[in-house]
Amino acid sequence: MLKIDQSLSKYEQAKKHLAGGVASSLRASQKPTPLYAESAKGARIRDVDGNEYIDYLLAYGPLILGHAHDGLTDAILSAMRKGYTYGLQHDGEIELANVLIDILPCADKVALSGSGTEAVMLALRLARAHTGKRKVVRFHGHYHGWSDSIFTSFPGAGLAQSDNDGQTAAVPPGTQGQSENSLADIILLPWNDFAALENVLRVRAHEIAAVISEPVMCNSGCIQPKSGYLEHLRTLTKELGIVFILDEVITGFRLSLGGAHGRFGIKPDLVTIGKAMGGGIAISAVGGSAELMKHIDTAAVSHLGTLNGNSVATSAALATIRELKCDNGVVYDRMENLFIQLSEGIRELMHKHSIAGVVNQVGPVFHMMFIDVKEVTDFDTFNRRDSGKYVKFAELMLEEGVLLRPNGLWYISAVHEQADIEATLLAVDRALCKLIS
Ligand SMILES: Cc1ncc(COP(=O)(O)O)c(C=O)c1O
Repeated sequence: MLKIDQSLSKYEQAKKHLAGGVASSLRASQKPTPLYAESAKGARIRDVDGNEYIDYLLAYGPLILGHAHDGLTDAILSAMRKGYTYGLQHDGEIELANVLIDILPCADKVALSGSGTEAVMLALRLARAHTGKRKVVRFHGHYHGWSDSIFTSFPGAGLAQSDNDGQTAAVPPGTQGQSENSLADIILLPWNDFAALENVLRVRAHEIAAVISEPVMCNSGCIQPKSGYLEHLRTLTKELGIVFILDEVITGFRLSLGGAHGRFGIKPDLVTIGKAMGGGIAISAVGGSAELMKHIDTAAVSHLGTLNGNSVATSAALATIRELKCDNGVVYDRMENLFIQLSEGIRELMHKHSIAGVVNQVGPVFHMMFIDVKEVTDFDTFNRRDSGKYVKFAELMLEEGVLLRPNGLWYISAVHEQADIEATLLAVDRALCKLIS
C-alpha cells in the first residue's frame, strides 16, 4: 500500500486557506490524493511520505531537462545574484530573442510573456489587429489555455459540425463564471477534417481573423495530423487572408528544437511556445513574421506584463536551449528512442494481459489509453476511452514507484535513462496485473 498520510494531512491543511487546496484546478484530480513533493532530482521525485517515483508527469511538460538540472540551476542562481527582475531592459532579452529567431523557422521576431495562456492571448490579438476581423477557428479537443476568450468545454461532436453555410453551434463555456459572450467569436470545428475546414473557411473568410491549432493533438490522445492536413491549413489560410497560429506550448522544444513546425516543415504565421522553453521556470513567447509582429513595434497592439522577460526567466530559457542544442540536439533522438521502446513495451504488456488499449507516441511524448479499438485517430474515438480505468492504473503505478498524469499523457526528459525505461516496464507489468485482478 502506498503511504500517503502526510500528503492527506497537508491537503486537509491546504484546503483551509488555499482555494480548492491546490494551485491549479487540474491537480486536484490526482488519486488517491494530491501528492505533496518533498524534493526532486533528475528523473526522480520524492513525496512527503518518503515515496520515490520515476517521473513522467514532469510538472505537466516543462521539465525537459528533468528536475533540478545542475547547469540550469547554476544559470538561474547566477542570474538571481544580479537581481531577479529589473523593469529595465537587459542583455538576456536580446540574446534570447536572437536565439529564438535562429531556432524557430517561422519567426522573424518574438515577444516574451509568462505562460502559454498569455502567449495565446497575444497571438489572437495580433491576428485580429492584422486582419481587422474578429472570428477565430479552433478545434474540438485542443486546449489553448484558460483565458475566457478561448477556453471551451467539449460536450459532443455534433457541436463542431458546420452546416452548408459554414455556420456552427454556439460554443459552450468551459467553466462557470465565464461570460457566454466571451466565446461569441469562436468557431469550433472537428480537427483533421479537410471538408469541414474548406466549408467554413471558404464561406466565412471575410470574418475569420485566425485559425489556431495544436500541431499534434497532444491534449486529447496525441493524435497526429493526417497526411497533408497542416499543409492544407497553411495553404488555405494564406489564400484566404487568415492568420495561421500553431500553438506549440507543448510541442515547442519537445518535438524538436524548432518544435513541431520545425519537425514537420510547416511555416505558420505565428507560433506560441511555453512549457519546455524555460525548463520549469515560467516563460513563454509568441514568434512570427515581421509583418505580423510589426503591430507590437508600432504600438498598435499592446503587449504587457510586469514580469515579462525577467532575467531569471530569460537565463533559464537560454540555459535550457543551450543544453538541448548540445551535440547537434542528439538528446532528441535519445528521448524519442527511449519513448519508442517504452510505448512498444506497454503495447506488448497490454496484449500479454489481454487489456485493450492504444498508445499514440510522437517523439518524446505519448498518450496511453484503455479502449477497445485498433487505433485512435480522432477526438470522438478518443472520447470513448475508459478514463476511469486509466485513473486507477495511474494510482496503481504510484504503488510501483512511477508518477503519471492521470489523463494518460506521458512526457520524458533528457535525463531519463535506459534503466528507468526498463524499471517502468516492470512496473507497468505489475500494475496491469493488479488492474485485471
Ligand atoms: C497547447 C497548449 N496551449 C496553451 C496552454 C496553456 O499554457 P499555460 O498552462 O502555461 O498557461 C497549454 C497548457 O497545457 C497547452 O497545452
